[in-house]
Amino acid sequence: MSIDLHNAVAVVTGAGSGIGRAAAHAFARRGARVVVTDLDAQRAHAVVEELGALGGEAVAAACDVTVIDDLQAVRDLALHRFGRVDLVMNNVGILAVGPVEDIPLEAWQRVIDVNLLSVVRSNLVFLPVLLEQGAGHVVNTASTAGLLPYGYDRLPYTATKHAVVGLSEALALYLRPRGIGVSCLCPAGVATNIVEQITFYGEPAPPQGPAFPVVDAESVGELVADGVSENRFLILTAQEAAAELRELGADVDHYLSRLTKDMP
Ligand SMILES: NC(=O)c1ccc[n+]([C@@H]2O[C@H](COP(=O)([O-])OP(=O)(O)OC[C@H]3O[C@@H](n4cnc5c(N)ncnc54)[C@H](O)[C@@H]3O)[C@@H](O)[C@H]2O)c1
Repeated sequence: MSIDLHNAVAVVTGAGSGIGRAAAHAFARRGARVVVTDLDAQRAHAVVEELGALGGEAVAAACDVTVIDDLQAVRDLALHRFGRVDLVMNNVGILAVGPVEDIPLEAWQRVIDVNLLSVVRSNLVFLPVLLEQGAGHVVNTASTAGLLPYGYDRLPYTATKHAVVGLSEALALYLRPRGIGVSCLCPAGVATNIVEQITFYGEPAPPQGPAFPVVDAESVGELVADGVSENRFLILTAQEAAAELRELGADVDHYLSRLTKDMP
């Protein structure tokens, strides 16, 4: 059931920077043709040039994941240019950070729209293509913040990333019997431009939650490509998160007590 990335057609959102860019490179290194999409068209074009210079085949598209017409245009571009879509990586995420009572409703709505409803839109647009083929793969980028209570100063992020994990697990139940793989990428810290995607509210809070090692984006791209090739559901960048998740699962009250014990 796993897809062969050689000659596969991959669509990646938010691929102009960071993890999306690195995944586009890793897919192209394995011979995939890549539709590089980003809100920032210049960034998408720059990544296509990089891939072209390395011998890859890629096309750029401006795509805002909050606009379903943009995703439909990306699907049409992929089908027109390459004839099929094998892999869809829903990768865009933003953060609203601040004390719980200082994050306004509009910020919540924006984070839900970008982090969660983007995946819903993508499913509506791309799943009919994959289901018709009876083959393909979906990667949803969540976060360790989607597995663990990763800090109370970024509740919209934590809530939407948990939603992406839950959505992805249930989607796997639906799609695996239909020949389509699902992976959920849950990175810990990755050195990217993610700070550009953060809107801050109120006074900064002290660090909270578990701290994991920070890795470079290129290695995450490789992990994603390997995870797709091996049809693995959970892709972690820090194995420490798995131990933390086991601890949470064993006794959530005990786990929360440990985290809050030393908090101010
Ligand atoms: N960097 C980390 O430490 C980290 C950790 C866990 C999870 N993640 C997740 O990884 C994903 C990628 O983040 P990154 O660290 O590579 O960030 P990044 O800022 O380097 O890249 C994000 C890209 O998304 C694009 N983008 C923003 N809004 C968009 C929109 N509405 N439509 C289309 N594109 C849009 C930006 O232009 C940018 O090129 C996010 O979902 C993020 O939550 C990142």
